Amino acid sequence: MTTLIRGGTVVTAEQTFRADVLCENGKIAAIGENLDIPTGAQIIDAGGQYVMPGGIDPHTHMQLPFMGTVASEDFYTGTAAAMAGGTTSIIDFVIPDPEQNIMEAYKTWREWAKKSTADYGFHVAITWWDDSVAKDMGTLVREEGVNSFKHFMAYKGAIMADDEILYNSFSRSLALGAMPTVHAENGELVFQLQKKLLEEGITGPEGHPLSRPPAAEGEAANRALRLAEVIGVPLYIVHVSASDALEEIKRARGAGQRVYGEVLAGHLTIDDSVYRDTDFTAAAAHVMSPPFRSKEHQAALWKGLQGGALHTTATDHCCFCADQKAMGKDNFAQIPNGCAGVEDRMSVLWTHGVNTGRLTPSEFVAITSANAARIFNIYPQKGVVAVGADADLVVWDPELSKTISVKTHHQNVDYNVFEGMTVKGLASHTLSRGVLTWKDGDLRAVKGAGQYVKRPAYPAPFDALAKRAALHKPRAVKRS
Ligand code: URP
Ligand code: ZN
Ligand code: ZN
Repeated sequence: MTTLIRGGTVVTAEQTFRADVLCENGKIAAIGENLDIPTGAQIIDAGGQYVMPGGIDPHTHMQLPFMGTVASEDFYTGTAAAMAGGTTSIIDFVIPDPEQNIMEAYKTWREWAKKSTADYGFHVAITWWDDSVAKDMGTLVREEGVNSFKHFMAYKGAIMADDEILYNSFSRSLALGAMPTVHAENGELVFQLQKKLLEEGITGPEGHPLSRPPAAEGEAANRALRLAEVIGVPLYIVHVSASDALEEIKRARGAGQRVYGEVLAGHLTIDDSVYRDTDFTAAAAHVMSPPFRSKEHQAALWKGLQGGALHTTATDHCCFCADQKAMGKDNFAQIPNGCAGVEDRMSVLWTHGVNTGRLTPSEFVAITSANAARIFNIYPQKGVVAVGADADLVVWDPELSKTISVKTHHQNVDYNVFEGMTVKGLASHTLSRGVLTWKDGDLRAVKGAGQYVKRPAYPAPFDALAKRAALHKPRAVKRS
């Protein structure tokens, strides 16, 4: 299949320039002005529009079994919705139960993901520890193209990783050249606060943010960062929602630590007033962890993104419908945690980032695709418009606008946390490996067309860090 995208303005994380883009056999074959039209090529007129790398959402949970139910969006419906919004790749999570064999869980998720229409990879969560886990981490890195491991510092009694697990897994990650990532919330503190609030009679969704204060996030971020510092391993902190965690990242970066921060489109644009909605369904629909925060935290997150302390944007797309959220009708701690967003991330960030002057188009590309591709080591296969890269592209019309609504979204969930938000700047066309999956409102995503993307281990910066760690190896003192 040959496609020529003509007359657009190409935007990468580094440059903006007028060029045509030729896609052949799933790859970008040529970029230049006034390219010849190959016989039989499909032409896309991109006049007045931007041609950018398709979005990479590095944090989704399709059909996740969680909190006694299963997320409503599967790998097909979720990635099809992603295509409608200009996102062409996701990195989802394999989350083994404690004591479950890691490879078995990994194979289960690989099977589920076969219906994906977008390309995909997996972070694998480390929820328990023994020698078999250490061995399986090696297999995942060396044979399966997994280069990141996730640690939930929250969800006590379920998937929470304690400091012993963090220490062992971070150390193993360093040895393997893999990136540890953390959900930073102090799970013990959250558990105790949930108990206290319930005893005090606070059972509704308003209890959710009260049980997960910004300090619980700041403490966990600091603890993970300090462990990573001592071990000498880089760290990626997912869904940073509070200035408390952001400040820890800034401190660590200032001290020379290699740390990356991710922020969600939702945390940047939705505030915690949603939990005080008197309608249970609406309030519960916003229950996710960490919770939406106050406007002050939002402002800090935008500055973190602009100032370079936060690097990637994601959605944590994890959908539960109203009947699932109702499992926590009498106890906020039992409301399944998670919200949707994979379809809306790009337009929400363009509207609130580029249209407000907070971000340039190139910075938008950096935080929606290029940085994730670099950090998770799939650059320049993904995250750039360059000859030889996968033809994962979005033709972006900065003049197109819509009002986001559950009535018109493509996500398989009965609520949209961005409901009523008018966004300006939308995907007119999305291409996945050169194939049109979205064209002017027509969703053409094909079930199973997505490919698993192997993410190789990092040769560097781990080498440098390992060398530095070796230099500081303690020696026993010889005594006579
Ligand atoms: O509430 C959330 N975020 N649900 C998904 C699991 C997680 O913590 O990422
Ligand atoms: Zn999380
Ligand atoms: Zn998540």
